[in-house]
Amino acid sequence: MSKSFALIPAAGSGSRIGKKRPKQYLTLAGKPMIHHAIHTFYRAPRIAHIFVILSPNDELWSQYDWSEFSNKLVVLNCGGATRAESVLNGLRAMPSTVNISNQDWILVHDAARPCLSSKQLEFLMDEIADDETGGLLAIPVADTLKRGTMHHRAINTESRENLWQAQTPQMFRYHLLVKALSQANASQITDDASAVEALQYHPKLVLGNTLNFKVTYPQDLALAELILQEGEKNCTP
Ligand code: CTP
Ligand code: MG
Repeated sequence: MSKSFALIPAAGSGSRIGKKRPKQYLTLAGKPMIHHAIHTFYRAPRIAHIFVILSPNDELWSQYDWSEFSNKLVVLNCGGATRAESVLNGLRAMPSTVNISNQDWILVHDAARPCLSSKQLEFLMDEIADDETGGLLAIPVADTLKRGTMHHRAINTESRENLWQAQTPQMFRYHLLVKALSQANASQITDDASAVEALQYHPKLVLGNTLNFKVTYPQDLALAELILQEGEKNCTP
């Protein structure tokens, strides 16, 4: 029987949000942002352990009390220069802390997506459990897509047919994820599924929802705060 583990890369600096501290530590609903994702995985009975990947220079993690999660939480200070490097370093470090088999599932989830709901997480795990390849939460593109010039003038309109926006969690077997990320160009990929696609696999696109957006720009903070304050993330399908 395969086990499932969460891996949360949290070694970024949050340059686009432009705040003094890395965005995973910005306060949302009274907690550091990363607390919310950890909490959602902690509540999921099928998740055996949660691995958080921090920068080797991280000085903020230890300023908070994480003891409520201690029976499931493992912290690894092996983040790299890119998200892909942080995930791969984390995957390689995992076996020294827990017993892990090649067939076990890894759910990689951005620390910067605090509004993932338990229902969405369970839905993804249900949909992928019997899948040969694995997959990810994603949503069909809703807006009209423009190809623009460097000077922000629209050249033409691109078809949005069959286009999806990738979210996280992204759920793959341990051995496939290690193989894919080892062969990927870490400076060019921004998610795990693209490394798997490069090996000619076709990850399953599991319908997510827009509340699970990635907090990227300063204006995203107010929306995330609202969703978390209202407990909204657990009210939607
Ligand atoms: N991440 C990481 N290691 C890196 C870069 C990113 O672990 N070297 C993590 C971030 O901490 C975040 C997730 O990957 O949880 C998604 O990345 P992103 O939203 O791009 O966060 P940042 O890289 O921190 O932000 P920015 O790109 O604006 O600098
Ligand atoms: Mg980044």
